[in-house]
Amino acid sequence: MERRVLTVAENRIVAARTHRLVLEGGGLPTVAPGQFVQLEVEGFYLRRPISVCDCSEDSITLIYKEVGEGTRSLASLAEGSCADLLLPLGTGYRLPLKPESVLLVGGGLGAAPLHLLCKALKEAGCSMRVVLGFNTAADIVLRDEYKALGVEPEIVTLDGSEGAKGLVTDLLSCCPSMDSSSACKQEGLSQEGSGAKAERFYTCGPLPMMRAVCGMLTIPGQASLEERMGCGAGFCYGCTIHTASGPARVCADGPVFDKEDIIWQ
Ligand SMILES: Cc1cc2nc3c(=O)[nH]c(=O)nc-3n(C[C@H](O)[C@H](O)[C@H](O)COP(=O)(O)OP(=O)(O)OC[C@H]3O[C@@H](n4cnc5c(N)ncnc54)[C@H](O)[C@@H]3O)c2cc1C
Ligand code: FES
Repeated sequence: MERRVLTVAENRIVAARTHRLVLEGGGLPTVAPGQFVQLEVEGFYLRRPISVCDCSEDSITLIYKEVGEGTRSLASLAEGSCADLLLPLGTGYRLPLKPESVLLVGGGLGAAPLHLLCKALKEAGCSMRVVLGFNTAADIVLRDEYKALGVEPEIVTLDGSEGAKGLVTDLLSCCPSMDSSSACKQEGLSQEGSGAKAERFYTCGPLPMMRAVCGMLTIPGQASLEERMGCGAGFCYGCTIHTASGPARVCADGPVFDKEDIIWQ
């Protein structure tokens, strides 16, 4: 883990109450998919954890939603100003040992860490089906960024304002790994794409969505959990949860856990 002060190169709205924050500086450490940063926010004692959406040696991209005072304050960071962050933090997604057919399921800003994962899986030679769910069209993020990686994400919105109407689990009912391909024919949904024979899945998003996804897919899977955080680096035990393997710190042992390890609340 390093503490770095980076320059704000971009901090602009890309969807409803959602910002893309690009921070620049030289010689950044490698960030694995699913890892996050702890951003200092002026006027607040605790840093705010945000997943890494994209990164290179000299820049890091975060996507964040204004949900409270801290993220509202982040939104006012001007281009050219400085941001103080700790990185990289946490244990991210574990990639398959050989190229596989994988399924990525994101809900809301869960699309952000899955974007960096998508990039890594592409480089590892995996084929992918990406399903992204949002409340409404105005919330959709990163579609073009996924396309730039050569993946056409399947979009589903709760109100049907864009893509299919419903929940991500409605699209997954086409996945034979849950033995319900007949549901696909009934709904007239496509069974094409690598996800139809996915060997592994990765998910990030609201807890009820991830619980449903992990419950319905029988293939191996990993999910990224969220907890309120103190230090964000494994020292304070403030983010400890119960897992099937015993107590675990979401910030250090996670945020990504194997689905079998998660005890859903
Ligand atoms: C590992 C990790 C990765 C994250 N990645 C992202 C990301 O990529 N983009 C993004 O927008 N947000 C992300 N979050 C959530 C983000 O940290 C919170 O939204 C942020 O800290 C809220 O700060 P605030 O001061 O604006 O809100 P607060 O005033 O602290 O809270 C406002 C509301 O948000 C809820 N909330 C605050 N923090 C969390 C949290 N950690 N988990 C769940 N609910 C919370 C509160 O319960 C409250 O309802 C991530 C959280 C974790 C733990
Ligand atoms: S937030 Fe301190 S140990 Fe996780």
